[in-house]
Amino acid sequence: PTPLAGRHFLKEADFTAEEFRGLLELAAELKAAKRTGTETPYLRGKNIALIFEKTSTRTRCAFEVAAADQGASTTYLDPSGSQMGHKESVKDTARVLGRMYDGIEYRGDSQAKVEELAAYAGVPVFNGLTDDWHPTQMLADVLTMSEHSDKRLTDIAFAYLGDARFNMGNSYLVTAALLGMDVRIVAPKTYWPAQEVIDRARELAAVSGARITLTEEIAEGVAGADFVATDVWVSMGEPKEVWGERIAALAPYAVTMDVLRATGNPDVGFLHCLPAFHDLGTAIGRDVYEAHGLESLEVTDEVFESAHSLVFDEAENRMHTIKAVLVATLG
Ligand code: CP
Ligand code: NVA
Repeated sequence: PTPLAGRHFLKEADFTAEEFRGLLELAAELKAAKRTGTETPYLRGKNIALIFEKTSTRTRCAFEVAAADQGASTTYLDPSGSQMGHKESVKDTARVLGRMYDGIEYRGDSQAKVEELAAYAGVPVFNGLTDDWHPTQMLADVLTMSEHSDKRLTDIAFAYLGDARFNMGNSYLVTAALLGMDVRIVAPKTYWPAQEVIDRARELAAVSGARITLTEEIAEGVAGADFVATDVWVSMGEPKEVWGERIAALAPYAVTMDVLRATGNPDVGFLHCLPAFHDLGTAIGRDVYEAHGLESLEVTDEVFESAHSLVFDEAENRMHTIKAVLVATLG
């Protein structure tokens, strides 16, 4: 059995830095094995349930392909495709699925729900995104950073610009704190993570040696950064009405070529978990752009399409890293 056999994957702070790095190393090995056609299927005969109460492209496909590559089967339960939450409690659903499946992925709004599933399922439960945390995304992002840097993880600096009160902002702060990285949260103060998240990150940083900066100043926040990251300004589950206030508050924090130049690092990499609002030319979000007279939102198309952009490596790495989680916990 692997060191993480039988464990849940619910949030970053449940793991030690060593365990988290172990998953990154395993992901890199699995990625190389797939590339060279030498992958060993460790999950033959395993069955994995995928519960999605919110929509997904990357996370769902990553779980399905990772499972298939490893010889496991998956069952996809879409936002309306199960009884959970409508007709049956989380606790009962957990106990039913736990009798049939070897592992359960859950994406939805509340972290409490995925924690409750984990408490009752009797099999490993994986958080595929909640409002609070996006831990599988963190594995992909850190793997992408390490692939595109010659530095040790603890020497890498990255800045996150945008709404930092939600899953991505929280997860970046805590993950960097856990791993001993240099993280800068760059946003209006009202968009910083909750105080309890900051406190947890500071506790972790005291152990790991991480450098944590929270600032409203873009120049200060991005100076010397190896990577700049952002996320959508309105997340899944939030009402359309908040677009106006978000754009008013966050437009100065959009990732532009000027922001990348302000890092002073000609090789700075750009990260985005995707989906992204970067191009008025696509029909996506047209109503929002037009209502506010903008051509892009959190990142300009120029940055998104530039040589700095690592977003498709990052998206691919969702699959290799989720595979590592499955192999480590179920293999
Ligand atoms: N980044 C991410 O989680 O993408 P999906 O919403 O498509 O799964
Ligand atoms: N913050 C975004 C991330 C999507 C992967 C959301 O929750 O919608």
